[in-house]
Parts: sequence; structure tokens; C-alpha cells
Amino acid sequence: MLGFLNKSKKNNKDSKESKESIDDNVKIAIRDLTVILGNRKILDKTSLDIHTGKTVAVMGLSGMGKSTLLRSIIRLLEPEGGQIFFEGKDILQMNQHKLDETLKNIGMVFQKGALFDSMTIAENVGFGLKEHTTMKPKEILEKVSKTLEIVDLAGREDNMPSELSGGMQKRASLARAICYNPEVVLYDEPTTGLDPIICNVINKLIMDMQKRFKVTSVVVTHDLESARMVADEIMMLHEGKIIERGSPDNFFNSTNPIIQQFVKGSSEGPIKV
Ligand SMILES: Nc1ncnc2c1ncn2[C@@H]1O[C@H](COP(=O)(O)OP(=O)(O)OP(=O)(O)O)[C@@H](O)[C@H]1O
Ligand SMILES: [Mg+2]
Repeated sequence: MLGFLNKSKKNNKDSKESKESIDDNVKIAIRDLTVILGNRKILDKTSLDIHTGKTVAVMGLSGMGKSTLLRSIIRLLEPEGGQIFFEGKDILQMNQHKLDETLKNIGMVFQKGALFDSMTIAENVGFGLKEHTTMKPKEILEKVSKTLEIVDLAGREDNMPSELSGGMQKRASLARAICYNPEVVLYDEPTTGLDPIICNVINKLIMDMQKRFKVTSVVVTHDLESARMVADEIMMLHEGKIIERGSPDNFFNSTNPIIQQFVKGSSEGPIKV
């Protein structure tokens, strides 16, 4: 199912090795991803698999590189080394055309919302549909309105982003990511800064996307409850590597002292604060 086409001579050997270790049910496989920002190695040969149709929560201390990981997947930054396979094809080796085609399948909810300030909420949310489909403006607006209803922002089509609260902007950003019906959604702290009721709306939405549309999700979060609720699997990114992964029950009961300290929020333990 996952045809592998390697175009790069340079990475031929590495890529072949990786192919053998990628299962057919893996949507995104990251292998030995190294990212250096400034003079710090943020990701250090990080490897992980994200299975098709599953929701994975990525946890970790602030500054550990969670956003960097998501940004690497959609190629907002150029890693130092490694591979990021989407359905078996290395995103880092794609030409612009193939990359554009592939990225249409991935929606991203940015940590800071990242709405276009000069566009209305409807224009922001419908941006992908306008750019990448032949849908008529009326059809786009209908789809936008339905998506805004899902995130509890009905009737906000004509508002500018600056007219919405931070939490509302976040939900508009979420609507933008899902409006295009992507196969994969990357959520960067989707519930941070939202009140408990809206948090619940967002958590349910993430679960609904999985159940109804078989969406594969990566949810970066600090919110333990949210991770337990939405995730099939939880991973911990620490000092550039995935140091633990497992079902929510296994993760929360991990005997790894770093995980124990993290889930208890304790100031005592191997993590020095
Ligand atoms: N453009 C950049 N140039 C230099 N350093 C950067 C850049 N972007 C991020 N960093 C650094 O990389 C590290 C990882 O940042 P990142 O935003 O990925 O962390 P994070 O795990 O998402 O943190 P948080 O939980 O606070 O959102 C941080 O130390 C940050 O200061
Ligand atoms: Mg972040």
C-alpha cells in the first residue's frame, strides 16, 4: 500500500533501511530527525511512528521542542538530518509540487493561532478551500459556517481576528485547520488558555474528527486530562528524544522517574526546576 519512491541518491541507503522498518498502518514515520536552532540541538535523532487513524499526544516540558517537531513535519523549518515519511514518502526529499500536494492532507493548529490579521474569520477559515479547491464562494461560505458552528463560533464570519478573544482566535484557527477535511491534523496546544467548558468542546472535537472522519491526529499538550481523554497513545519528548510511549494507562503508570515527576507536577525528581 505504501509505495516507496526514493528520488535522492544521497539518502538512498538510509531511506531503504527506513522503509523496512515502516509498517503499512503508519501514516507518519519520523526517523533520526535532528533539528538545530541557534546553536542548540533541539531534536536529537528523534524517531517515532504515528499510526493511521490514531490520536497521539506529545507531552514534554516547555522548550523541549514539541512545536519544533510539528513545524518540521510541515516543513516550516529545515532539519539538520533525518527523514519524515508521509505514507512512506520522505517529505524532506519532495520537490515543491509534491510537497504542496502532500501538505494539503495535513492541517495544523498553531500554538499562537496564526490567523491572517487583515482577513475576516470567514476568509481565514475558508482560505484552504479557496486556494486548493474549485468550490464556489457560496459553497465555501456554507462549509465555513458549518465549521464555525462546530467550534462554537457561529455567526462570527464577518469579524476580524482582533475582534475575538484569544480563546476564540484559537478556535477559529482550529476551524481553519479542519475546514479542508485533512487526513492528518497537528494540534499545537489546542486547549491552552481556554476555559474548561471550551476545553471540553475541543477535546470532543478531536475525538469526533477521529471517529467520524478517521483523521490521524498529533496533539501537543501540557494538559494531562486532555491527553488522557483524547489520545490512543501518549509520548514524552525529553532532551531531544522520545523517552516514553504507551497507552494513557501505561504512560501515567510509567515507572520512569521523569514521567512520574511530570505527571505528578512535582518539583522533586530528576527534572531540575
Ligand atoms: N527560530 C528559533 N531560533 C532559535 N531557537 C529557537 C527558535 N524557535 C525555537 N527555538 C528554541 O527551541 C527550543 C524548543 O522550542 P519549541 O517551541 O519547539 O518548544 P516547545 O516544547 O513547543 O515549548 P512550549 O511547551 O513552551 O511551547 C526552545 O528552547 C526555543 O527557545
Ligand atoms: Mg510549543
